[in-house]
Amino acid sequence: AATRTFSIIKPDATRRNLTGAVTKMLEDAGLRVVASKRIKMSREQAEGFYSVHKERPFFNDLCTFMTSGPVVVQVLEGENAVLRNREVMGATNPEQADEGTIRKTYAESIEANSVHGSDSDENAKIEIDYFFEPEEIVG
Ligand code: CMP
Repeated sequence: AATRTFSIIKPDATRRNLTGAVTKMLEDAGLRVVASKRIKMSREQAEGFYSVHKERPFFNDLCTFMTSGPVVVQVLEGENAVLRNREVMGATNPEQADEGTIRKTYAESIEANSVHGSDSDENAKIEIDYFFEPEEIVG
């Protein structure tokens, strides 16, 4: 059965006009965009979203980066959506990402790594609920 995951096209990608190119790679990987909106994240939204990382040394810079420009938050649907999305994104560090992945193709650095994707079904639900009302998702 189809499942859902949560994706963010990050400010480094929107700044380079890559929203369509990144979305095409997601779609080519078998994922359907069932919700999408372009937003400017507030500091509070970014800190809340990444709260699991709040003790990490990169937390402050990460929240500054994520609020530095527009992002596109999306709900993606497909068979094994979380895993498919993780495969097409590639490793967090673009230097370690496989050829053909979004991060290998487009990421600028480990921080400006073009996309976020949920790491589990449980977190996907939490992250979708953080940014979307149920009626904004049209499967
Ligand atoms: P993301 O999948 O959105 O989850 C946490 C983000 O922190 C990660 O992608 C990167 O953008 C950023 N980040 C910056 N430095 C690091 C690091 N050393 N390890 C992991 N994530 C990092």
